Amino acid sequence: MKKSLFLYYTFFLLFASAITHAQQIATGKHAMVVTEQRVASQVGIDILRAGGNAVDAAVAVGYALAVVNPCCGNIGGGGFMLIHLANGKNTVINFREKAPLKAKQNMFLDKNGNLIPDATTIGYLAVGVPGTVMGLNQALQKYGTMTRKQVMAPAIKLAKEGYRVTSFDAKWFSFYAPAFRKQANVAEIFLHDGKPWQAGDLFIQKDLGNTLSLIAEKGTEVFYKGNIAKKIVAASEKNGGILSMKDFANYSVEEMPPIQCSYHGYTIYSVPPPSSGGIAICEMLSVLQHFNLRQSGFHTAASVHDIVESMRYAFNDRNTRLADPDFVHNPITQLLSPSYINSIVTKIRNTKTIPHAGKRLHEHEQTDTTHYSIMDKHGNAVSVTYTINGFFGAKIIADHTGFFLNDTMDDFTAKPGTENKFDLVQQAINDVASHKRPLSSMSPTIVMKNNQPYMILGSPGGPRIITSVLLTLLNVIDYDFNILQAINLPRFHFQGSPDFIEIEPGAFTDVTTLQLKRMGYNIKQIHKWSAVEAILIDPQSKILYGANDNRRPDGAAIGY
Ligand code: DON
Repeated sequence: MKKSLFLYYTFFLLFASAITHAQQIATGKHAMVVTEQRVASQVGIDILRAGGNAVDAAVAVGYALAVVNPCCGNIGGGGFMLIHLANGKNTVINFREKAPLKAKQNMFLDKNGNLIPDATTIGYLAVGVPGTVMGLNQALQKYGTMTRKQVMAPAIKLAKEGYRVTSFDAKWFSFYAPAFRKQANVAEIFLHDGKPWQAGDLFIQKDLGNTLSLIAEKGTEVFYKGNIAKKIVAASEKNGGILSMKDFANYSVEEMPPIQCSYHGYTIYSVPPPSSGGIAICEMLSVLQHFNLRQSGFHTAASVHDIVESMRYAFNDRNTRLADPDFVHNPITQLLSPSYINSIVTKIRNTKTIPHAGKRLHEHEQTDTTHYSIMDKHGNAVSVTYTINGFFGAKIIADHTGFFLNDTMDDFTAKPGTENKFDLVQQAINDVASHKRPLSSMSPTIVMKNNQPYMILGSPGGPRIITSVLLTLLNVIDYDFNILQAINLPRFHFQGSPDFIEIEPGAFTDVTTLQLKRMGYNIKQIHKWSAVEAILIDPQSKILYGANDNRRPDGAAIGY
């Protein structure tokens, strides 16, 4: 190893080992559950110990997080579940929200064609038809072994008897208290005597408990055709929304094959459109396979250049060529074809000057959404990312249903060429249409080695999901970091516009920063983002290593 490379490694390993003091790698011989909330991880492990499989546990965790991770876990949103079955089958349950029937291309523009402020993120127009309940129930019915009542019991108990508010909850309850105050029915639950709940308080959600009980007893129908749909539609009608009973009755979950690619002998499975995640990750990996990242070193100017440029092309394709496949053609084969990948590689090798685009840079917290990873003793693996988009979604709860509704309509292109809340500048292909699903960045991923699950991972973070998953894969595969180091190491992110490599504190040494600036890159250090929840299975010993991101200290990896 060259001396400079050795110093880089030493620096980062020292840094990483300091972090691992706080959070240990969990090990398990049989099974592992990793989520952003310890209580939800325990729910998953309890289900597995009681004889459930990974899908049973995933459904139980999905419902539990809707209670104990109220910012992000949900029944009012949607997402993707990637399943690897021990029999070799890989499949995706797509429960992404759909736009209402009455949604129109220009629904977020005023009469002058300008974006109406906050219309895509707050209130009933921001809400897509939720998919979580149908997605979880369908996964259970097809791939689970337990009854709906069994897997929902822990969530119902946590809602009715309460759980202890975490420091993460308390921070965001307090931040969003002004928004909660605006709606009496939200304030009633999420404020305590008019003030935010504090860490350690016992937080009881009676309405949510009743809603979950109803779903446990009556099933998917009650959410899409029964009382719950009726309450949401009535509240929407009363508050300027366009949701109708038809939207709920026509909602469907789809099962689809995953996106697949190989990287240095590993097979990567992730999710297809309407998420851009799988294609973007595979496009970047296929490009990066042509560069020797190991040799050019961890977070050196040379390797960062190659990685950032791969991000530039992947995000450009994401924003211009992908959208709901039920509505538009997605050129998947072409985007991942050797000739297209080679053309990108050639362009990157010949990049002499760095192209510059838009300059705006917003600073957001980017940890809304939630990801969890599960592996059972049979060899089934499940990777789930689901969301209500922003923290507490559209900040509204219908009547006494007790759960937040999403603001996923913001993931559409409300106006081509303008930024959404994640600074994504998308094009007309992803415009709003009746019953269309907005393009997502969610990337629940499973990596296989010799046909056996090797890594299960994913993250929140909007577009940062894509780059957080990518960097975690590179940290393990190219740089030999252990799974906890791989997820905790400071990250960088580039999506073309804004025209900055955004970095977390400590992501680059001064030398790397200086060299990248000399190449012509804009670099900006911002707060930390994302939260990768991952499992790695040692191919020889079969020991499961679970790692929770230190950016979400209330999370936990629990194995047995
Ligand atoms: O589907 C998407 O890409 C977004 N709705 C995800 C939002 C998200 O991860 C928020 N976290 N920062």
